[in-house]
Amino acid sequence: MTELSSHINPNSEEFKANYAANKALAEQLADRQRAVATDRSPRSVELQRQRDKLLVRERIEVLLDDGSPFLELSPLAAWDMYDGEAPGAGIVTGIGRVSGVDCLIIANDPTVKGGTYFPETVKKHLRAQTIAEENRLTTIYLVDSGGAFLHLQADVFPDREHFGRIFYNIARLSAAGITQIAAVVGSCTAGGAYIPAMADETVIVRGNGTIFLAGPPLVRAATGEEVSAEDLGGGDVHTRISGVADHLADNEAEALDKVREIVSHLQPGLAARPRSVPLAAQTPEEPLYPADELYGVIPADPRHVYDVREVIARLVDGSRLSEFKARFGPTVVCGFAHIMGIPVGIVANNGLLFSEAALKATHFIQLCGQRGTPLLFMQNIAGFMVGRQYENEGIAKHGAKMVMAVSNVNVPRITLLHGVSHGAGNYGMSGRAYDPRFLFSWPNSRISVMSGDAAADTLWMVGKKQVFHQLDDPTDSEMRLAEEKFKRPILEQYGRESDPYFATARLWDDGILDPVKTRAALGLAFATTGHGPRAAGGYGTFRM
Ligand code: COA
Repeated sequence: MTELSSHINPNSEEFKANYAANKALAEQLADRQRAVATDRSPRSVELQRQRDKLLVRERIEVLLDDGSPFLELSPLAAWDMYDGEAPGAGIVTGIGRVSGVDCLIIANDPTVKGGTYFPETVKKHLRAQTIAEENRLTTIYLVDSGGAFLHLQADVFPDREHFGRIFYNIARLSAAGITQIAAVVGSCTAGGAYIPAMADETVIVRGNGTIFLAGPPLVRAATGEEVSAEDLGGGDVHTRISGVADHLADNEAEALDKVREIVSHLQPGLAARPRSVPLAAQTPEEPLYPADELYGVIPADPRHVYDVREVIARLVDGSRLSEFKARFGPTVVCGFAHIMGIPVGIVANNGLLFSEAALKATHFIQLCGQRGTPLLFMQNIAGFMVGRQYENEGIAKHGAKMVMAVSNVNVPRITLLHGVSHGAGNYGMSGRAYDPRFLFSWPNSRISVMSGDAAADTLWMVGKKQVFHQLDDPTDSEMRLAEEKFKRPILEQYGRESDPYFATARLWDDGILDPVKTRAALGLAFATTGHGPRAAGGYGTFRM
């Protein structure tokens, strides 16, 4: 296999400027993640302490095996939304090891509006369940939630992908043999009561854990009955009388320990399904080039191009890439490599997608499917090439072949947005709509239907006639001013909406990664995909 050799000069002014810009972006990311994880009102934290409850991240730490990594998903969901009232969307999800088994953990954060569900909370919860389903991960719910965030009921309750879907998913996951375990460590009200009720096995904490369809105030209003929360749906009631829960724990630590015990009894065949891809086929090996040089490799200006091999050289084992068709369709780089010992096929943009590049990628995707090699798509794609020559040669049908291959290849795919992602390039390169098992982005990435400049130009082309008439025979300089005024709000809108934080807030990805931590995250994610079954193969019609 060929070792990639880097042509980057770490002493160049360009490298240093890039490094400073990207390092600052990574620091901003870390600051934001820290703030979302820890910045809470003293009152809400104090309430937890007074009630002898752990904070959500403390719970996860106690639950996980010592030294287990935790691949947190969408930590910045709901970023910059709801006036900052929903950090992390009030829920923590991620993958970690419990009693030796890789589990998907979904834990409410009661310090965020009582752990209630905002639209992004629902989305994050459902996304985690999808990951559990696709990768056959035992799912553990740490429940502490007041149910729907009632002010936004229309956005969380009635639709297909809303609150009710959570319980539907539990039923389907359970039926698929993916164990569902709930620990009720706080309140579990109304619809939320169905999480422990639907779970395969449920633990509840004495004193703090409650499960009821309606809390004491609503019961009083509805029927006039006066009843305490504990008598209505506390741990004693549910483990001794109603049977809604199965195990009573005296405190949270005991409850989490019980969950670990439950997982430890799962049959290996059920808890850890046969692997569909050969994992850790070889001993992981560090790349030849230090990861932090990635900061200097990525241009500070997202519109500048760079050789994607410089990024690959800092992500893959031994910086080795066995390139496929290196001399053909050079604007996409395809090749076999290993990440943390796991074999992967890489499809990476290196410029605009031309017909030959699309054909080459299609061929390579099929090879990976045939060989059972999981795929990594590395997106830095402004789109497909446009213009008469390219349309005449049928670039649309060649792009369609790539989309056909991506949509149907029966190996896990992971997508990394390490640059821009625009237009149909996003589709052919396994964008969110194509169900990659995981999709991560970098802090420098940009995603939108087209660049802000292209959108402003396009809208100006179609709108300037009307402006011309409105101005009643304007001079050239009046027209130039009008153009600038016309384009400004479009550029501002695209700037705001293509920002990776705008994207991650809305769950268009599974999280923003620091480039330096990307190799480890990809290793965990690829290892996770190995638990899932391999789908049946087969493609539709490739338009020739
Ligand atoms: N919708 C919207 N906001 C809610 C809410 C809900 N379902 N439940 C709680 N909140 C808000 C509270 O107004 C409070 O807001 P604030 O911080 O701005 O004052 C915050 O969440 C924390 O609630 P609080 O009651 O102070 O905390 P707590 O830890 O003592 O109790 C609950 C938390 C969830 C047990 C309790 O608030 C409760 O029972 N809520 C109603 C639950 C319910 O009936 N849900 C029906 C869903 S279908």
